[in-house]
Amino acid sequence: MSTKSRTFAQKKPAVYIRTFGCQMNDRDSEALLGLFLERGYSIVEFPEEADVILINTCSVREHAENRAISFLGSLKKLKNSKFEIRNSKLIIGLIGCMAKNRGQEIFKKMLHIDLICGPASFDKIPDYVERIKNERARIIDLVDKPRCEDFYHASFRVEPDHAQVIISVGCSNYCSYCIVPYVRGPLRPRAPQDIIDEIKKNVDLGIKKITLLGQNVNDYLYSYPGLKRPSASVSFVELLRRVEAIEGVSEIDFVTSHPKNTSPELFCLMRESKKIRKHLHLPFQSGSDRILKLMNRGYTKKDYLRLIKDYTDIVKGTLSTDVMVGFPTETVEDFLQTKDVLEKVKFRYAYIFKYSSRPRTEVAKLADDVPQKEKERRHKILLELQKKISLENKIESIGQKK
Ligand code: 5AD
Ligand code: SF4
Repeated sequence: MSTKSRTFAQKKPAVYIRTFGCQMNDRDSEALLGLFLERGYSIVEFPEEADVILINTCSVREHAENRAISFLGSLKKLKNSKFEIRNSKLIIGLIGCMAKNRGQEIFKKMLHIDLICGPASFDKIPDYVERIKNERARIIDLVDKPRCEDFYHASFRVEPDHAQVIISVGCSNYCSYCIVPYVRGPLRPRAPQDIIDEIKKNVDLGIKKITLLGQNVNDYLYSYPGLKRPSASVSFVELLRRVEAIEGVSEIDFVTSHPKNTSPELFCLMRESKKIRKHLHLPFQSGSDRILKLMNRGYTKKDYLRLIKDYTDIVKGTLSTDVMVGFPTETVEDFLQTKDVLEKVKFRYAYIFKYSSRPRTEVAKLADDVPQKEKERRHKILLELQKKISLENKIESIGQKK
């Protein structure tokens, strides 16, 4: 054996994960890195230094998918490098929502991708990587099933004082524009005890701030297998109470809440609690009742404003939101209704998106008929309005999610 190959054999393998999209994806990548660390890997900051490169993707908007595709393309050169022998062993994986959405097509087209894995099988990724290493196979796993709890068990955390904890995977709301139910599957709540055990583990590590994550946290409802009585189920508010009772946890927040089932019971708990942050992320998407109906959101502008009033009266906390412009058939009048909600509520910050058509969704059947230029015009108006509101209130403004 030459000195060079011996050095390579003794070196710790290195993993690099690039994450696109939301907090849920950030947490998934963190949990996955934890599993690789347990197998003796080191984490590296640049793809050029890695033996395994994973791209954890988002499909919510077309833009996020395009960015991931161009990143994937740029990795091809690492595999082709003639100078770095190590890179001939490089393993590249496309994982997450876009893998589920476009995996088959990408597997056929991009031969430098060794692994394609949807969100349901993340716990298996380290095993898949071993198999690819040993057999030089290509693997594609796009099954839809409940996630294995083992996925969450590693104690690795990126932040020293804050942990994100997933309470449920998937969504069954089927907002007409949204791809999430198709790529992450229907809502699947984790068992309360598993969530609490994960939080206690963080407390043992000295982490006191917890963010609970779900596509719509209000939908969380855990029914113990075999127990049919509703009183035997754990709701989101009950889960929050249990998390609050954990000794050592000092601050709790949660994201995201859907206006159609955000309850006064939640507001009362937020008011009473010394640990729950008095901030609510409450996406309204549109201020037009006609568009809200087309979106299948389950509330009107009046309902939303009433909910905001209840929240302000009871909790006296801050607010943020998500809004979309350029939804199919959105007229200037519809858009002005959205602008009116931003003006009335004065959110602490707002994420403002241009609608993009997503495959399989209900509204993809309609023509994407608001011209791009008009979407950009409406987008700019809302961004500037929100910036002004934020400046007036000397509060933070964020225009775009990554
Ligand atoms: N186009 C644009 N924005 C979208 N969102 C969800 N689906 C789409 C889409 N097809 C936005 C919504 C949601 C946020 C996470 O992403 O505002 O609240
Ligand atoms: Fe998508 Fe609606 Fe579910 Fe949110 S609540 S993830 S927007 S389907």
